[in-house]
Amino acid sequence: MIKKGIILAGGKGTRMSPLTKAVNKQLLPIYDKPLIFYPLSILMLAKIKDILIIVNKGQLHQYKKLIPDGKNLGMKINFIEQKNPVGLPDAFILGEKFIGKNNVAMILGDNFFYGQNLSEKLYRCTNLKKGAKIILHKVTKPELFGVAKTKVNNNKILKIVEKPKKFVSDKAITGLYFFDNKVIKFSKKLKPSKRGELEITELLKKYQKINQLTSEFIGRGGAWLDTGSIEDYYKTSAFVQAVENRQGLKIACLEEISLLNKWINKKEILKQIKFYGNCEYSDYLKKIIKK
Ligand code: G1P
Repeated sequence: MIKKGIILAGGKGTRMSPLTKAVNKQLLPIYDKPLIFYPLSILMLAKIKDILIIVNKGQLHQYKKLIPDGKNLGMKINFIEQKNPVGLPDAFILGEKFIGKNNVAMILGDNFFYGQNLSEKLYRCTNLKKGAKIILHKVTKPELFGVAKTKVNNNKILKIVEKPKKFVSDKAITGLYFFDNKVIKFSKKLKPSKRGELEITELLKKYQKINQLTSEFIGRGGAWLDTGSIEDYYKTSAFVQAVENRQGLKIACLEEISLLNKWINKKEILKQIKFYGNCEYSDYLKKIIKK
């Protein structure tokens, strides 16, 4: 079982300046919560409660105000500051001590997932014993992502390309990955690409080469949305607003997930209500403990 997870929440977010001049991109709002709640909730839904969040140098204090150490959620949350964003696989080099001899999941801090049966699917992925697993989703603009060409009717991966200039596949490689412990060794062997970064697709190719790369597909009942630009923030916020207001249920309410996972009890939720203060999120928490 994969019990450890990394959230890569570094990056300068220059495309979103001036919003990101003083505040880390992952702390900006997606409707009623900071963006970081959404990828964190995904790891929690996969029952992963030992987490490392990698943040930009100098921004740790911003996170500590929001998520001190995870105890309030019945979890263990550690932080590391990253000096320079040098590519996604750097997470496994920085996180070497945290990973230890274990297998590990990683989610990018700006990825948003939603869908029925997603939790079960994710939990199944944590069963990974050997190799790596990626999560694919169909997109209209594959040139913006890493993509994987797979065999028809079978998720066997034939080809992987980062930001393809010519069409290869419309299946994007989402920012959620499951790796065995070789990920540390493989990441250390990577050389920076032409754009000067360690590329996740090159890391995945190392697993593909030894026939240890598998995939899961999130079909049309699921959503994978972007938060790469200001426009995307609005679209994703509108999505969350529409779903939450229709159902009266919150997406990515961390305390609710912890309670359902039996990591905390109602007493801890009361503490969280105090912590957040008088707000709509607290009103929702009050409703949960009345159920
Ligand atoms: C990164 C990865 C890409 C992946 C994407 C998912 O791209 O390099 O393979 O499809 O995340 O969000 P970036 O967002 O850094 O351009």
